[in-house]
Amino acid sequence: MADSKKIYPRKGDTQTVYLKNVITNPNIKVGDYTMYNDFLNDPMEFEKNNVLYHYPINHDRLIIGKFCSIACGAKFLFNSANHTLASLSTYPFPLFFEEWELEKKNVAKCWDNKGDIRIGNDVWIGFEAVILAGVTIGDGAIIGTRALVTKDVPPYTIVGGVPARPIKKRFDEDMISDLLRIRWWDWSNEKIARNIGAIQSGCIKGIEED
Ligand SMILES: CC(C)(COP(=O)(O)OP(=O)(O)OC[C@H]1O[C@@H](n2cnc3c(N)ncnc32)[C@H](O)[C@@H]1OP(=O)(O)O)[C@@H](O)C(=O)NCCC(=O)NCCS
Repeated sequence: MADSKKIYPRKGDTQTVYLKNVITNPNIKVGDYTMYNDFLNDPMEFEKNNVLYHYPINHDRLIIGKFCSIACGAKFLFNSANHTLASLSTYPFPLFFEEWELEKKNVAKCWDNKGDIRIGNDVWIGFEAVILAGVTIGDGAIIGTRALVTKDVPPYTIVGGVPARPIKKRFDEDMISDLLRIRWWDWSNEKIARNIGAIQSGCIKGIEED
C-alpha cells in the first residue's frame, strides 16, 4: 500500500519526491502524497530553489494540500520580493541599514506584504509556473506551463498565461460541487485504492459514496 512517509515514491527515481518529507522550514506545510519532480536540480533542494524571497523575518507561510503534482521549476515568490510601492523609490534602503545608518528593526519596511500562499488539494502546477505571494489556489485547479499566477484561482479551474487567466473549468458546476463535497483526498488509503479506477475514469458515478 502507498506510504506517504517515503522520500522517493518510485523505485530508482531520485528526481521525484514526496515533498512533505524533504521540507525542513516550519513555515512550509505540505500534505501527504504531494509530489515534486525536478530533472534539472536535486528535488531535495525545493526549499532553496523553488521557495524564493521567503525570509524568516516575515513569517510568511506556504501551505500546500494533499495529492498535488508540482512540476519541475515551479516557483513560489514571497513578500520579500515586493519592493514597496509606498516609497518614492523602489531602492530597498532599509535592507542596507548599515550603509545608511538606519535601524535594523525596520528592515521589513522594504517590502509590501501580500500574505501567505495557499494551494489546495489535487492541484497540478505546470512546468516553471510562478505563484506570487498572497495567492490562494483552490482544490483541483490546474496551473498551466509558465503561468504567472497573480490572483486567486477558484477550485477545478485551469489557468494559463502571463498574468494567468482562466482558460476553462475542468468540470460542470454540479460535478465540481460533488468533488468538493466528496474530498476523496481525505479518504483512507484503502478507500482511495478501491476507487482509483473510478477516479481515473473521469466519471463521478463510479465513485464509492459512504
Ligand atoms: C493548461 C493545460 C493543462 C491546458 O490543457 P488543455 O485543456 O488540453 O489545453 P488546450 O491545448 O486545449 O488549450 C486550450 C487553450 O488554452 C491555451 N493554453 C494552453 N496551455 C496554456 C498555457 N500553459 N499558458 C497559456 N495558455 C495556454 C491554448 O492556447 C488554448 O487557447 P485558445 O482557446 O485561445 O485556443 C496545458 O496546456 C498545460 O499547460 N499543461 C501543463 C503541462 C506541464 O507543465 N507539465 C509538467 C509536467 S507534470
